[in-house]
Amino acid sequence: MTNPIRAKITSLGTYVPPRLLTNQDLEAMVETSDQWIMERTGIRERHIVEKGVATSDLAAEAAKCALAKRGIRPEAIEVIIVGTVTPDMFFPSSACLVQHKIGAKGAWGFDLSAACSAFIYALHAGAQFINTGVHKKVLVIGADIMSSIIDYTDRATCVIFGDGAGAVLLEPAAGGEDAGFIDFLNYVDGSGGRSLYMPGGGSLNPSTHETVDKKMHCVHQDGQAVFKYAVRNMADVCDRLLKRNGLSATDIDCFIPHQANKRIMVSTADRLGLRPEAPIINIDRFGNTTAGTIPLAMQTAIDEGKLKKGSLVLLASVGAGFTTGATLLRWAY
Ligand code: UT7
Repeated sequence: MTNPIRAKITSLGTYVPPRLLTNQDLEAMVETSDQWIMERTGIRERHIVEKGVATSDLAAEAAKCALAKRGIRPEAIEVIIVGTVTPDMFFPSSACLVQHKIGAKGAWGFDLSAACSAFIYALHAGAQFINTGVHKKVLVIGADIMSSIIDYTDRATCVIFGDGAGAVLLEPAAGGEDAGFIDFLNYVDGSGGRSLYMPGGGSLNPSTHETVDKKMHCVHQDGQAVFKYAVRNMADVCDRLLKRNGLSATDIDCFIPHQANKRIMVSTADRLGLRPEAPIINIDRFGNTTAGTIPLAMQTAIDEGKLKKGSLVLLASVGAGFTTGATLLRWAY
């Protein structure tokens, strides 16, 4: 029996800090070149916060934008889920900080840790509150300040990441309305945990002078291992999701992948056999903003006229963990 209630996205808001860090800026900081970064990643520039700006600030701006577009007051929000690996602090959660900053009196919420897949996982979690009839307005946010955990002397990681946030409002679709989430497929593979991680600052390696000296509070990445895993699994999870819904790749109007590397996205699109106009790629302007990439790319798709009412959309991500996810939905507005 199909569920009588189906969650849909009714609004999208995004925010990136104004300051730009260009490839030319990075050329002056580490031994790299605009040509290498463009060829190997597709990134030209990324947005970076000023000192004192935290993830909840970006998340709150994105949330306020989503609420303003929908024309609803913050008091109407029932749940706030924030996907992030760079919370303002371990606790309280970023969801609590955002709740206070936007004045969502009456909401509860929590943070969700799934690295680059956090936005997709949070959509899945948020949709359940709607589908079960428990809540009617859920705010799902993906936000990260990757610049807070990057070693800007490590050329292998500092060229990739940026800061940014996006928020969507989930509400129930009307009865019989052909809009909203169709299916989710997520999985994790913890054997890849050491390929991309931040070893310091947690219960295993609490902060000490030594952990700081060893830069254990920064991103450590085996780029090639992550690249290989991502190329294989992003296509695989999409393929499985399409098949179990009786769809083929050419049915997809809009493919919105996590923006980690242009080569990963192009390879996935090729492997799947998507239509050439379907993939949305904006990594050149934002870099990899971890949980922020998919909502930021949704906005790009809207701006480019590729995401409109009735569009069949496929979201996909692979991230640290490893975490993998894909989501099928029909755009509602
Ligand atoms: O969002 C979550 C997940 N993260 C990812 O999906 C990242 C996946 N991995 C990647 O995107 C790529 O592996 C990177 C962009 C991180 C690296 O690209 P690559 O083509 O895999 O380069 P590599 O690590 O194989 O390094 C090739 C060469 C090395 O030099 P040698 O040993 O061949 O002399 C590196 O030292 O490129 C060098 N290199 C650089 N050169 C200039 C590495 N980083 C840089 C740099 N500028 N920024």
